[in-house]
Amino acid sequence: MDTIDKITAEIEAFKVNAAADLDNFRLKFLSKKSELQTLLSEIKNVPAEQRKAFGQQVNLLKQKAQAFFDEQKQRIEDAAPATGSLTDPTRPATAVKLGSRHPISIMMDEVCEIFERIGFTTVAGPDIEDDWHIFTALNFPEEHPARDMQDTFFIDQKPDIALRTHTSTLQVRTMEKHQPPIRVICPGRVFRNEAITSRAHCIFHQMEGLYIDENVSFADMKQTLMYFAKQMFGENTRIRLRPSYFPFTEPSAEMDVSCNICGGEGCALCKHTGWVEILGCGMVDPNVLENCGIDSKKYSGFAFGLGIERMTMLKYKTNDIRLYFENDARFLQQFTAAKL
Ligand code: DAH
Repeated sequence: MDTIDKITAEIEAFKVNAAADLDNFRLKFLSKKSELQTLLSEIKNVPAEQRKAFGQQVNLLKQKAQAFFDEQKQRIEDAAPATGSLTDPTRPATAVKLGSRHPISIMMDEVCEIFERIGFTTVAGPDIEDDWHIFTALNFPEEHPARDMQDTFFIDQKPDIALRTHTSTLQVRTMEKHQPPIRVICPGRVFRNEAITSRAHCIFHQMEGLYIDENVSFADMKQTLMYFAKQMFGENTRIRLRPSYFPFTEPSAEMDVSCNICGGEGCALCKHTGWVEILGCGMVDPNVLENCGIDSKKYSGFAFGLGIERMTMLKYKTNDIRLYFENDARFLQQFTAAKL
């Protein structure tokens, strides 16, 4: 009974200031090796007539120790300083900032959509190509100087393989697989071994268009491209075609649109001409049709290839192509699809 009194006094005097004190308390009074536990196991050795009273006292003490422990534990937990978001699970979450689509992606989607509205289908193909699809099938004869029009990245060990220099490769791939009528639009990345400046990059994007059917004329091409220019840059946009040369089209042309920055008055972007070049086009050369297994006596068609960066710079009035590849968040955050 003396030990019971002693332990009772110890419990009453015990100071709990921190979680570590709680651990000490548990070891001292509640663990298997504690004095209190020893008392409990001695109940059976107490003479029968005192056993009941002794047992009650020891059990009361045990309850008291446990109650003290629970109470102090709660108090320590309640007083713990608020840490992190776990303290209030009902608090509204911090908003996660969404990224925005890359301006080049926004532009490619928009061009595809404009052409899809008049029945074109979008197709894609490989960035790494063979000589046949980049040059030979497109009427660039071997050793022909026209191959130098585009500075090509070749693969050293395999001279037949290169990074495609234009998306015209997809004209070939499409015609090899399908007979006319063909109406496709082909967006993609292209590569040229060029010095990087504010106007040129070694990686950029093009969009190829191809329309093959019976009796397709130059006038069909002109109307299609005029529709596109007005949809993209506004109803008042004018276009003009200048004669040009590409091995895969005959006749060939380059198309300018009236400068939408100065409205045709003349500014730095249009080099004070009022016009900006946006694409190359022409009637598909019969040699190309035949190379791809299409009867050039029965079918004719037109093709065009436009530069996506060029158009994006024009539309968003930016003057340095490198901005599109540096991925500076401050630049990219200015573009959302909604702005178009
Ligand atoms: N492939 C040409 C280039 O990269 C662009 C081009 C011009 C594509 C005329 C065409 C076309 O389909 O008809 O410079």
